[in-house]
Amino acid sequence: MNPFSLKDYIGPAYFCDRKAETKRIVDAAFNQRNITLSSIRKMGKTGLIHHAFQQLNKTNKIDTVYLDIYYTESLSGFINRLGTGLFANRESLTGKIKRMTNYFIRNIRPVITFDGLTGFPVFSFNVETEQASLQTLNEIFGFLEKRSAEKPLIIAIDEFQQIAGYPEQNVEAILRTHIQKLKNVSFIFSGSDRHLLTRMFTNAKQPFYQSTELMYLEAIAEEEYAAFIKDKFAEGSITIDDKAVKEILTLTRSHTYYVQYLCNKLYGFGGELIDEHIVKQMLSEILQENEVYYSEYRNLLSKAQWKLLIALAKEEGIVQVTSSAFMRKHNLSNAATVRRGIKSLLEKFMIYQSDKKYFVYDVFFATWLKQL
Ligand SMILES: Nc1ncnc2c1ncn2[C@@H]1O[C@H](COP(=O)(O)OP(=O)(O)OP(=O)(O)O)[C@@H](O)[C@H]1O
Ligand SMILES: [Mg+2]
Repeated sequence: MNPFSLKDYIGPAYFCDRKAETKRIVDAAFNQRNITLSSIRKMGKTGLIHHAFQQLNKTNKIDTVYLDIYYTESLSGFINRLGTGLFANRESLTGKIKRMTNYFIRNIRPVITFDGLTGFPVFSFNVETEQASLQTLNEIFGFLEKRSAEKPLIIAIDEFQQIAGYPEQNVEAILRTHIQKLKNVSFIFSGSDRHLLTRMFTNAKQPFYQSTELMYLEAIAEEEYAAFIKDKFAEGSITIDDKAVKEILTLTRSHTYYVQYLCNKLYGFGGELIDEHIVKQMLSEILQENEVYYSEYRNLLSKAQWKLLIALAKEEGIVQVTSSAFMRKHNLSNAATVRRGIKSLLEKFMIYQSDKKYFVYDVFFATWLKQL
């Protein structure tokens, strides 16, 4: 098995570092605190939640529930997810909680179907009107209150920013009211839209104001990642030299998904010794494989945006995007166009801002753009 996973969490042996972050989540769960977890995309939020939950499950003192609401578009979609998350794992429930769950299901009668891919049960509740949704939500939270009195729970809601796009106006407020009443349940609200999440949780007018701790996930420290990479290659009887490891982390800016991807390819490559040269070659193969997609991006952007994107890729983290030096160097027309371009590229998740600097999101794409 390739130890560099590109899927969701596959176990602690394949998970690098995040010790402090894991501890923070575990502590929050034991002390009924809520956490808002955010980062740029593909930095490892979902993996971290699964890792912390794995540790919590081992203690057998707290139950864990994970929901991904990325594909929900309304309150009823949210309720179906929540129901599925709470009830789908019934096999693992014991004694009183199982009886409680059975009672609940008999009374509100969700429709149970089975996911075609995974075979896991999916619950959906008959909540066609907003009134019915609110009623069911009440019942679910009422059930949560009873259930958590038996055993505390932590519930992670991944891609939480989705709820801001639901057509129902007051979902944030409704959830907040319910969540606040629960004494033995803590929540993780996770998502990658930093500004939206920050707005939701720190703006005094918003219902979630100050009800959670903010946790921003940065890249894994270089030394930690380097040690992990060397270890995993060594376990597969592959030697990788220090320069090669350094090269991997530099080329990927230590951005988790891209590190994993490059290492996954290198591991599968089959050699016994990996040096800097092989790393560079592998990267250029990856760029070639993805070239079709990269060229497609060009059709999605205006000429001015495309030019700006190349300029940002070449600068690898520039702050002053409207300075005349930057604009002259890259032959960009004027500050107003650049400002508009930046806004649009941010909205399209083509770039992100970190420490005031702008970066192209996809590090491989950035490398490809630099050669243009
Ligand atoms: N600490 C880690 N060690 C090894 N691999 C990791 C680690 N954290 C995450 N990964 C891997 O990196 C990839 C991206 O991680 P993950 O999906 O958790 O990121 P994310 O921040 O949730 O992304 P998105 O914003 O797209 O939801 C996954 O393949 C995951 O398995
Ligand atoms: Mg995720």
